[in-house]
Amino acid sequence: MKNFKELIFDQSYINGQWVAGGTDKFKVMNPADGTLVSTVYDGDTLLVNDAIDSAHQALGAWKALSAKERSTIMYRWYELLIKNKEPLAILMTLECGKPLSESRGEVEYGASFIQWFAEEAKRADGDIIPGFTADRRVMVIKQPIGVVGVITPWNFPLAMITRKLGPALAVGCTVVVRPSEETPLSALAMVALADQAGFPAGVINVVVGTHAAETGKILCESPLVSKISFTGSTRVGQILTNQSVSTLKKLSLELGGNAPFIVFEDADIDAAVKGAVAGKFRFSGQTCVCVNRILIHEKIYDTFVERFVQAVSELKVGNGLDVGVNFGPLINKKAIERNEKFVADALSKGGKVLLGGKKQNEYFFLPTVIGDATADMEFAKEEIFGPIAPLFKFKTDEEAIQMANDTIYGLASYFYTNDLTRSWKVSEALEYGIVGINEGIISSESVPFGGVKYSGSGREGSHYGIDDYVELKYICVGNIK
Ligand code: SIN
Repeated sequence: MKNFKELIFDQSYINGQWVAGGTDKFKVMNPADGTLVSTVYDGDTLLVNDAIDSAHQALGAWKALSAKERSTIMYRWYELLIKNKEPLAILMTLECGKPLSESRGEVEYGASFIQWFAEEAKRADGDIIPGFTADRRVMVIKQPIGVVGVITPWNFPLAMITRKLGPALAVGCTVVVRPSEETPLSALAMVALADQAGFPAGVINVVVGTHAAETGKILCESPLVSKISFTGSTRVGQILTNQSVSTLKKLSLELGGNAPFIVFEDADIDAAVKGAVAGKFRFSGQTCVCVNRILIHEKIYDTFVERFVQAVSELKVGNGLDVGVNFGPLINKKAIERNEKFVADALSKGGKVLLGGKKQNEYFFLPTVIGDATADMEFAKEEIFGPIAPLFKFKTDEEAIQMANDTIYGLASYFYTNDLTRSWKVSEALEYGIVGINEGIISSESVPFGGVKYSGSGREGSHYGIDDYVELKYICVGNIK
């Protein structure tokens, strides 16, 4: 295992080499206290075309390897990621503020995509279809889509990259990764371990810098890039979609959410409280599947609220590196201001602050509960991406479903009930890609993660995750007499 300082790199990684790309550097700051973590060469726009060329040149040899050979290299990478769990987790907490226990969890979660798809590489089976005449035979094979542009956010600095690279590398694609400028260090550390695992030069390229928009545009418009896989906001997803029109690029988009969390009157209230705290306050509310609106049946509203406020008040706020802390800072000042605006808007429309409701200092926003929330409040329509839990009341199942679906988004949804019929009916009625029943944490490498409506398209993880990175080729053999 390395010391975390040995895993700090400051240059982009292209064709198996570290490259600065220029002389300007940018700062990576610790969101918990504003101190400098490291500086990194600002190379993304300067280097992205070299990275695309490198991935394009490496494609032929990488896809020509057997699935087993690719799988073996991926396994080595998985093992190195696990072996270096602690330094990777420290680095992650330093650059994004996530509590250390969550960062350790993310390294395991992230590594699990590489392990899972190292296995799936060998199972990307095709099909034999009965010939449509007596003398024809029909086969379907899966082939890698080509070079993939991977654009990832700061909230999962490692796992959002591996979730895309797992299936891409398994089937024989090569990649150009552009991680968030807030969190380039995890991306560079993991690619250093990929290098050690023995990936051939050019198979994985990472460009780091501060020009997200320009770099995204180059990736989208390049004829050498066959696909873009993006996790981030719906607004940026729409921009990338527009920019991909000229090359008719395939896109996988994991975008914003507005997750409802419904507590029916027959629910186990303590389990629902636990699920809501976990689902709402994971990484201080900064995940796409975080609970955005808690809808509670009027008969149990008061009981749920009392227990929920108590549970939220027990969260330990602090620097993610400190022992026992399970609630860290927000990523930056803009995020603090955004959460302040949500609270002010709710108060102006009749909402009540039951806990928190303000920043603790310039880095932390307190865990917040807002009672008497209504549909006209901004956080009913927008993804909060912060630690505010708004509580809404409903009377009937129909009303709960209507409220839950009253959003442009459709990523994750949750509900608590012990009624089997209700479980089925509500699951089927929710317009979401993911439904958690009596469960607030639904993420795993083994499940198809993704959304509908404005939450994007494509599925990541599970055996379905391969589909987004392959083209089907139908082969017809004739004249079999
Ligand atoms: C995300 O926030 O985009 C991903 C969350 C997860 O994988 O659990």
